[in-house]
Amino acid sequence: MGCDSPEEPYPIGKDVYNRTCRYCHNTLFGYTPGIGDVAAWESRIQQGLPTLINHAISGYGRMPAKGGNTQFTEQEIEEAVKFMVSKVATINGNELVIKETEE
Ligand code: HEC
Repeated sequence: MGCDSPEEPYPIGKDVYNRTCRYCHNTLFGYTPGIGDVAAWESRIQQGLPTLINHAISGYGRMPAKGGNTQFTEQEIEEAVKFMVSKVATINGNELVIKETEE
């Protein structure tokens, strides 16, 4: 494998993301935490992974339950949350460590 094709650790999550979550989380709606946006995710990350997964499954504020796509299973939503979170934090079981921004 070449260096420019790193293995995607959450292939299912990535697929779910691309099919649903991306429509909001890829853009900066102001109130939507964008993918890879450390500043937007920092305080959310503090809640811990189980809470983030619960919020994604049940809905939270302007975030619709399961991203509005109720055909997804809870497992698929969990994977999608991990995929998104992995862009801003290292996932160590239920422990999340925010990635340092390189500057
Ligand atoms: C219709 C737009 C929309 C879609 C689609 C969407 N989200 Fe969200 N999401 C939001 C918004 C807006 C927020 C911020 C909610 C708030 O803080 O009030 C959010 C917040 C979140 C959060 C943080 C919750 C927290 O506790 O801070 C997670 C995790 C999340 N979304 C996951 C997902 C996943 C996974 C998907 C795909 C299955 C998805 N979202 C699809 C709009 C969307």
